[in-house]
Amino acid sequence: MHVFDLDIEITKMLEVDLPSVVGIERNSYDYPWNENIFRDCLLSGYTCVVAKKSDLIVGYAILSSALNEAHILNFCIDKGYRNLGFGHQLLDYLINQSKVNGTEKIFLEVRPSNIKAIALYIKKGFEKIAKRPSYYRHINGREDADVYLLYTSKIGYLDIQY
Ligand SMILES: CC(C)(COP(=O)(O)OP(=O)(O)OC[C@H]1O[C@@H](n2cnc3c(N)ncnc32)[C@H](O)[C@@H]1OP(=O)(O)O)[C@@H](O)C(=O)NCCC(=O)NCCS
Repeated sequence: MHVFDLDIEITKMLEVDLPSVVGIERNSYDYPWNENIFRDCLLSGYTCVVAKKSDLIVGYAILSSALNEAHILNFCIDKGYRNLGFGHQLLDYLINQSKVNGTEKIFLEVRPSNIKAIALYIKKGFEKIAKRPSYYRHINGREDADVYLLYTSKIGYLDIQY
């Protein structure tokens, strides 16, 4: 496949996108967000975006921002479209937009067991700064979260085009 066939389009998440987003969410997490949580994010003015491949929603991200800090609240690529570089592209987009908006720090939480997501975050320059004990629900009770931070000044604008 030609590399350019892999590019995704990233657009603002709309109410009409919610059924697709919730479908991907349910297939991706043991404890998925419901549609109302996504709707609240839209109403709260968070940065809510969808990643599209040929008009099909293949992923999404939610980012809250206040002053010079941002927090990635949800970040997901549809199971059938993983390992194609879409996660990289979506994260690059969030980092670039944050830099444009003057954000200096981007935080996120991740399950320590989520090796793949952690590998991606580290590749982008995120560093583990803390642990939040018993942050996530888990089949055996609770699981800690690792907290990661990226100083956006640490990196230049990423070489991507939208
Ligand atoms: C994390 C997630 C967004 C990554 O999306 P993706 O589109 O598959 O990511 P990409 O294809 O851009 O990149 C995946 C990277 O992980 C690497 N990877 C794949 N499997 C891996 C594994 N088992 N261990 C370590 N790294 C792995 C790939 O090599 C690739 O890195 P590289 O291309 O730089 O070598 C996706 O797996 C996902 O949506 N997971 C479920 C939701 C989730 O966990 N979100 C994060 C919550 S904090």
